[in-house]
Amino acid sequence: MTNKKKILVINGPNLNILGLRDKTIYGTRTYKELQKYIKEYAKSKGVFIKISQSNSEGDIIDLIQKASGKYFGLIINAAAFSHTSIAIMDSLSVFEGLIYEVHLSNIYNREIYRRHSYISYASKGVISGLGFLGYELALDIILNSKKEKNVQI
Ligand code: DQA
Repeated sequence: MTNKKKILVINGPNLNILGLRDKTIYGTRTYKELQKYIKEYAKSKGVFIKISQSNSEGDIIDLIQKASGKYFGLIINAAAFSHTSIAIMDSLSVFEGLIYEVHLSNIYNREIYRRHSYISYASKGVISGLGFLGYELALDIILNSKKEKNVQI
């Protein structure tokens, strides 16, 4: 299996309790359903996908550090850490591969403190507000990309 086919998904804090969170913002589907959705789509595309979730900032940084050089692309929803974590941004900046940031909700039409993301500085693109579909689109973009490096344009 080539590196191009390997994609890592990292989900941050409280995404494991999807279904219990504000349903008007995040919908009624659970995290288990999100995993199934991503896995089925990846399977249909013949892609190797690994999905990780953590509520801990340090664990997310460890995951990113270990993933560098091993994955063609990274799809990250750092959840609330998106708005606070320079440390996750720094670890992403040394990740050798494409990075796409995903948010289920549209962080730009919510509270002001959600409208800034440190993850965006290290990401090639952001998909925000499209729910589960955002992960699918990010996966498609990565698969259609020729660039192995997360070069800013
Ligand atoms: C989120 C948006 C964040 O502001 C929030 O803290 C989350 C989820 C999203 O997917 O819409 O936990 O990243």
